[in-house]
Amino acid sequence: MKFQRPRGTNDLTPEQSPLWRYLRHLFEQISTQFGYVGVDTPVFERTELFTRTVGEDTDVVAKEMYTFADRKGRSLSLRPEATAGVVRLVVENSLLASGGTHRLCYWGPMFRYDRPQAGRYRQFHQLGVEAFGTGGAALDAETIELFVTLLREVGLSDLKVTLGSVGDDACRPGYIEILRKFLAGKGDVLCKTCLTRTGSNPLRVFDCKVPGCREAIADAPKILDHLCDDCRTHMDHVGELLQTAGISVEIDPSLVRGLDYYTRTVYEVHYPSLGAQSALGGGGRYDGLVEQCGGPATPAVGFSAGIERLILAIQSEGTLSEKDWKSRGAYLCLMCAGAEAAGGRIAAHLREAMPVEVDYTGRGLKAQLKTANNRGARFAILLGEDEIANRTATLKDLDSGEQKVLSEEQLLTLIKTWIAGETRQSGL
Ligand code: HAM
Repeated sequence: MKFQRPRGTNDLTPEQSPLWRYLRHLFEQISTQFGYVGVDTPVFERTELFTRTVGEDTDVVAKEMYTFADRKGRSLSLRPEATAGVVRLVVENSLLASGGTHRLCYWGPMFRYDRPQAGRYRQFHQLGVEAFGTGGAALDAETIELFVTLLREVGLSDLKVTLGSVGDDACRPGYIEILRKFLAGKGDVLCKTCLTRTGSNPLRVFDCKVPGCREAIADAPKILDHLCDDCRTHMDHVGELLQTAGISVEIDPSLVRGLDYYTRTVYEVHYPSLGAQSALGGGGRYDGLVEQCGGPATPAVGFSAGIERLILAIQSEGTLSEKDWKSRGAYLCLMCAGAEAAGGRIAAHLREAMPVEVDYTGRGLKAQLKTANNRGARFAILLGEDEIANRTATLKDLDSGEQKVLSEEQLLTLIKTWIAGETRQSGL
């Protein structure tokens, strides 16, 4: 019997994992440079955490959540997103008691039951940041700058950054009433879900994908025309700060995001050539969420990016090559019986400096070198009878084809010198 992975999920194969690892390393490096510290939360939480924060009327909760009862009958859900769990972590661990700004970041799998297609999966991965403690536009701009820094670093230049606002307690209720009145006049064309949402949560009507509903709401009043001065100024200020940082933004009056917890400024970053699933990530401010989850009233902002989509974009842009993400180490070819001990000793030394893979297969040298090249190794180190007898090794430069016989000590020194030279050249 042969099994297949569940629909909408992906395997991470040895072919793909080096690029994932490279991206994760880069994200950790950049988020560290911006002062963000890593956190992790369980992949399942109490269902209520999501229904109360992401919102019962959202597609994510109403249609896409994997919800199940555990053996004691408690309702749990696989996390469809990370922000709610991070807010729970922050409150449960009293992280905000010390005041100041708290900058957190994460990377991990999320789950949404949706119709799978390129760039949309049932298990997918997000990286993201959440920053707590200040309500000013500078923190929003910082999160977007971090995101764009990551995208530029992986060679993505054709980006579209959009800003919008969902208002706050001062201006949103007024707008909701205006929208509700507008929707009431469309009762005969809206789908059943939109009719319900008109009563319970009219903003969510904008998430509907039914063509008739989309047409009906095309000329609906826009929240941007009904923002209070504070919300408008906040969004404009985020745009100005980004402009100063060299990031151009567009205002998108219909950007309302698909999750209920947002307040004020929201944003998305698109890579248009990905087509239908072009949103690499999105986020925004959620100033009421910490208090709603039992913590002290604390403004906050963050974003998440879809890692599968980032990978698709990197591959389609093609400015990075395998050389950028494959770790180029040494491949140790054992060419005679009894070479394991010397091989082990040399490998242990060299691993101080670079990754080393040892070939124990006993195959001929040609086959071993072929594997070394396939792995993208920088050097092959050959250990045959002569080398063992003389405590030497033959170092083969797989880029130039040159080779030299060296003592074990010389070998390590040479590799360390080579690495220092590479590092100098790359300016690190
Ligand atoms: P979101 O817009 O729902 O926001 O998701 C963020 C990103 O995750 C999307 O732009 C997309 O790249 C990726 N994504 C979402 N669903 C899928 C899927 N089914 N398959 C593949 N990729 C997907 C959030 O999740 C918020 N938590 C963002 C946030 C953080 N807001 C504040 N802080």
